[in-house]
Amino acid sequence: MPEMDGLDVALRVHKFRSRSWPLIIALTASSEEQVYMEDSEAWNKFHTRHSTGKFFKERRYLLKEFPELASCRDCSTVLEIGCGNGSTALAILRGNKSISLFACDCSTEALERAKENIEAANINLAKERFYPLQCDFSASGFPNWLVCTSCRENFFQKQNMCSSDARSCSKQDFPSAKNNNCIGGVDFVTLIFTLSAVPLHRMSRAITECFSVLKPGGLLLFRDYGLYDMTMLRFEPEQRVGYREYMRTDGTRSYFFSLDSVRDLFCGTGFTELELEYCCVQSVNRRNGKIMRRVWIHGKFQKPHVHICS
Ligand SMILES: C[S@@+](CC[C@H](N)C(=O)[O-])C[C@H]1O[C@@H](n2cnc3c(N)ncnc32)[C@H](O)[C@@H]1O
Repeated sequence: MPEMDGLDVALRVHKFRSRSWPLIIALTASSEEQVYMEDSEAWNKFHTRHSTGKFFKERRYLLKEFPELASCRDCSTVLEIGCGNGSTALAILRGNKSISLFACDCSTEALERAKENIEAANINLAKERFYPLQCDFSASGFPNWLVCTSCRENFFQKQNMCSSDARSCSKQDFPSAKNNNCIGGVDFVTLIFTLSAVPLHRMSRAITECFSVLKPGGLLLFRDYGLYDMTMLRFEPEQRVGYREYMRTDGTRSYFFSLDSVRDLFCGTGFTELELEYCCVQSVNRRNGKIMRRVWIHGKFQKPHVHICS
């Protein structure tokens, strides 16, 4: 099928509206699919270009910002979405020796880098507690073995059909879960500088996926770019591709959040807000002496607990 831009699609929609409805659906669907592929390809190239150890920085502050990751019950599970080269994954695996971590990324290159960095870190059993998986959470969603349709639909009911209730964390559990036995969701989802990479119109669906994959009472831990962060002010006007949305020259995207935009997205999906604030940090670049004014958003959201009505 020849490539089409948005105008072509619109013209065809107009022309075929009455006669060829199924054809129109096929055409628009494939053009959105192309966008997914372009996004993952851009991130693949990004991770290939930044494959040296110098680019990798473990987020050692993470467990101070989110102490629940250190104090949670034994054998808790985390899904780190958009794991990149493993900066967040490694900090969690190091900080809590009983956590198992699923790390997803749309880029296969990123997952390779993450595996290398986890292996090189030489932490007791980190490799055995780390489960990389490739997926674009804003497009295809998470695999059924993480959360099955029944768990998604019945999150208010007790999930007694899924293996997660066994509260066991032997090394065998998760590989067998991949044979399509649902593990019943995870205790934590981490979204650390990942949501900003998703196009604005797909964010709501992406957050719904995060909600589905969490167990009742589970926490979503969020950190991302805030409005007027210095990186936003550095974009050229022509790099603006939407409302507070920018595209870097390498094709990767960045959105800049206000507190309200984060609140609307998460609470609109059913999460309860526990913490939400701006973190503003001013530091000096040692190489060139320039002041760096960073604005990030820190958020913590909870999926409601199961309510048993008497
Ligand atoms: C800025 S990096 C953040 C990496 C990591 N979370 C950290 O703390 O350093 C963003 C990552 O999200 C991934 N990503 C972007 N869009 C995604 C999507 N729709 N689904 C899954 N991963 C995505 C990119 O490949 C990239 O590795």
